[in-house]
Amino acid sequence: MPDTQPLDLQAILQEIHAKLEPRLGEGKVADYIPPLARIDPRKFGMAVVTIDGQTAMVGDALEPFSIQSISKVFTLTLALGKHGENIWKRVGREPSGSAFNSIVQLEQEGGKPRNPFINAGAITISDLILAGHTPREVIGEIVRFMRYLANDDEIVIDPAVARSEEATGFRNAALANFMRAFGRLDHPVEHVLGVYFHHCAIAMNCVQLARAGLFLANAGVAPLSGHTVVSRERAKRINALMLTCGHYDGSGDFAYHVGLPGKSGVGGGILVVAPGKASIAVWSPGLNQNGNSLLGSLALDMLAHRTGWSVF
Ligand code: DON
Repeated sequence: MPDTQPLDLQAILQEIHAKLEPRLGEGKVADYIPPLARIDPRKFGMAVVTIDGQTAMVGDALEPFSIQSISKVFTLTLALGKHGENIWKRVGREPSGSAFNSIVQLEQEGGKPRNPFINAGAITISDLILAGHTPREVIGEIVRFMRYLANDDEIVIDPAVARSEEATGFRNAALANFMRAFGRLDHPVEHVLGVYFHHCAIAMNCVQLARAGLFLANAGVAPLSGHTVVSRERAKRINALMLTCGHYDGSGDFAYHVGLPGKSGVGGGILVVAPGKASIAVWSPGLNQNGNSLLGSLALDMLAHRTGWSVF
């Protein structure tokens, strides 16, 4: 669709919601922790915030959900801010081709995770942003960053989710200890995991999340405040990583169907960036076989089709 035609984003979202309504509840809700297993699988919310400040939303777009791995976009941004391109000595930039919590490549590749979005990579990023600080200080810093980006002081960590992540996070503990054994973590494993579990437990709604991602759609500048969050070049690079690695082993499929940088979480959320246009967040808790929101991915496929926003 040519750029010159005005888009009625609210009508497009309503149309997508209506089309998906008969399918609400499809997919498998994450059940590795009780606070996620309890979520109503029929929830569905979607929000689009454009770089010129328009907001469109539908369904449960104002209901907070567990952003989980979507937080990894923002911890990556913080790590790049603290250490610049040096972070790439510690974590790669290639799709892993395996599950988000896989350990197998770590042994083959000397404890260096393939990318910052798989669990091992995000744990490494938590180590990098600790940078000699306490977990409490860094967790506070991440939450303040989210509040600043979304311009919303209500954003919090869900304490029940954080506790459950900690109580059941044996696989993440294995990944962290394995990397520590390779000499690849600078801080104690429990500090690193404390940061990781807490940022996964941040709760946000679709509107807050779409607002928080808007700097990536606007060459690094948060358009609502005019603040430069990252350079144009860095925004481009974060988007490239989201496109190639943001959906784990489903990244190719997401790029094929949606054609936009995106990052999913097992809470059923997906954050998507339409460069030069908008930031989009969708939430539908039922997941597909790769741990990405099933209906959320379909909704984004429809949105990309209706708006012509694909980067390709
Ligand atoms: O660390 C974990 O495994 C969970 N907190 C889930 C991370 C996540 O969202 C993976 N994404 N699909």
